[in-house]
Amino acid sequence: MKNLAIILAAGSGERFSGPVPKQFLKLGGRSLFEICLEKFQVHPDIDGIVLVCPDSHLPLVEDTVSAGHFSKAVKIIAGGTTRQESSFAGINAVPAGVKNVLIHDAARALVTPAVISRILAALAANMAVMAALPAGDTIVRVDEEAMVTAVLDRAKLSQVQTPQGFRLEIIRQAHALARADGLSNASDDCSLVLRYKLAPVVAVLGDPGNIKITYPQDLAIAEAILKNTVGRGGACPRPGTNSYK
Ligand code: CTP
Ligand code: MG
Repeated sequence: MKNLAIILAAGSGERFSGPVPKQFLKLGGRSLFEICLEKFQVHPDIDGIVLVCPDSHLPLVEDTVSAGHFSKAVKIIAGGTTRQESSFAGINAVPAGVKNVLIHDAARALVTPAVISRILAALAANMAVMAALPAGDTIVRVDEEAMVTAVLDRAKLSQVQTPQGFRLEIIRQAHALARADGLSNASDDCSLVLRYKLAPVVAVLGDPGNIKITYPQDLAIAEAILKNTVGRGGACPRPGTNSYK
């Protein structure tokens, strides 16, 4: 097995504050979790999938996988208290012989095949890769008193997305070092590789439609994206901004 996806679906969605964790809410008749799973199931270069979900939702996820014929789902496991812990659990469940892992947030259910392909292509020559988008808005630093203390150079800023792809041994090492340091709250996986300087991290273009559903209003945006009315395919950086591929 060359390329394996780890889908992180073990969060509780506190900011969304819905009746169930947001990844199990339905959009167009299917749960976000299922929509996300299908993206990796149908991608020709993904060989297997590890699903990380809340302990309480293991039966539901197992039913979804068997009813939907998601043949690439090789393992379904319970996550941890933080995203980092869930990611660590997913990495530990990767079968022997896997070369690359793509770690992805189930909350970004609308990831496109092109973004997955860009990550995989970059992994041929790099050990750590993230999907990102050049910042569209100007970004400022604001202190505790709500005073704006700096206007940052937008041309040098990007917004991080998932998937993030790694050579398996690099991300294993990054998580082992973080745990040894008592760190459990990293918001993404590339940040751990950067923190311990284990490998250069390269950015490939994400997609404006690859939003993370965080707040209730994001669901309406996701619905519009799903209907192909906004987002998709418009990921080209504008002149004068970052020009990574
Ligand atoms: N995640 C996870 N395990 C956790 C926390 C998060 O697998 N303990 C997953 C979420 O399910 C999500 C992704 O990591 O797909 C990104 O996290 P986020 O958007 O922050 O989701 P939640 O942590 O569920 O939301 P919140 O922070 O609002 O509670
Ligand atoms: Mg969270």
